[in-house]
Amino acid sequence: MNRSAPARLIYLDNAATSYPKPPAVVERVATSMTERGGNPGRGSHALALAAAEEIYACRALAADFFGISAHPECVIFTLNTTHALNLAIKGMLGEGDHAICSDMEHNSVLRPLYRLQTDGRITFDVFDTYPAAGRRDSPTAPRRSDGMILSSLASRITPKTKAVICAHASNLCGATLPIERIGAFCHARGIKFIVDAAQSAGVLGIDMTRMHIDALCVPGHKGLMGPQGTGMLILGEGITLDTLMEGGNGMDSLSGEMSLEAPERYEAGTLAAPAIAGLRTGMEYVREVGVERIYRHEATLGGWARDGLMALPRVTVYAPRQAGGVVLFSVDGYDSEDVGRMLDAEGICVRPGFHCSALGHRTLGTPEGGAVRASFGWFNREEDVDALLRAMRRIVG
Ligand code: ALA
Repeated sequence: MNRSAPARLIYLDNAATSYPKPPAVVERVATSMTERGGNPGRGSHALALAAAEEIYACRALAADFFGISAHPECVIFTLNTTHALNLAIKGMLGEGDHAICSDMEHNSVLRPLYRLQTDGRITFDVFDTYPAAGRRDSPTAPRRSDGMILSSLASRITPKTKAVICAHASNLCGATLPIERIGAFCHARGIKFIVDAAQSAGVLGIDMTRMHIDALCVPGHKGLMGPQGTGMLILGEGITLDTLMEGGNGMDSLSGEMSLEAPERYEAGTLAAPAIAGLRTGMEYVREVGVERIYRHEATLGGWARDGLMALPRVTVYAPRQAGGVVLFSVDGYDSEDVGRMLDAEGICVRPGFHCSALGHRTLGTPEGGAVRASFGWFNREEDVDALLRAMRRIVG
């Protein structure tokens, strides 16, 4: 595998988007544009058919990757995870429904829920994954046990609860939620289960059938190593949603309505065919390397970074007992943006602030100036951890 990254910059922002991409991904995007440049599903000339074949191959691979190999039609291409979450949440929840999400959610889950609630259409509640008491006093408390998480979830259920929505892995720290147990819990009560796999797809194994997932929201450009502008909503069997967008999809052109069949029902307008071709190659690459190997690599680097940062004076590492490649920390007396700028000046790319997750930051008890996130990917190496720790030593003096 080619692991060379551009000299100079040390990229530790893989939770935002993975970088660099495997060279084969870049090549596939280019050949899609030069050799298969028709509009997939529009017309039956050679170039439209070649583009459609590429799209179908990506759907089939994704269906297999996420445990529903017999149903490639359930793979809907979106722009990103946020688009997939909006489609799943707004398409599933109707007038008077109640929803529940976790206390670690990102705005891509919270804002659609807030919008529906503000419009008077739904109500929603939040279940706890980190200890409710003394969060600000003990930012390093461990995650609740699976049993405690399930009992917090159970206490929020009402007769109107239609769906539970939660992240598989936090975008702030290494915390993961017990997806399989939450899914079984939901299905035993006739509740639908929507999973935000923004940080887990390509890094943790996901089997929609075994995990009882009705709607899986996936980024193409993070752990699956595809281009930005790609995402997927993968529906479980028998799930039909309301549409978020209507328009041409190459089917039933004489009808005023969107057809009921997936995936076309949800894919109005021209797809990002070259990017989807690149996503297919990204997924092939991840398969070849192996999801578990990627996780082990990222978790090893994340563990070294946590240990090194915890040894520094004035540095607090949040959720330090979690594994995984996403590490969140703050420095007493510094705004996180200042630390981010100082690291940037040393060629180290991290993301400071609130990471579009005010709720998750509140749950973890980060300070007013936010926290700094370093997120490791497959292409990072041990030297990158050393560089981060060296730079942080200089910052804290
Ligand atoms: N959700 C992405 C992040 O955590 C963009 O940075």
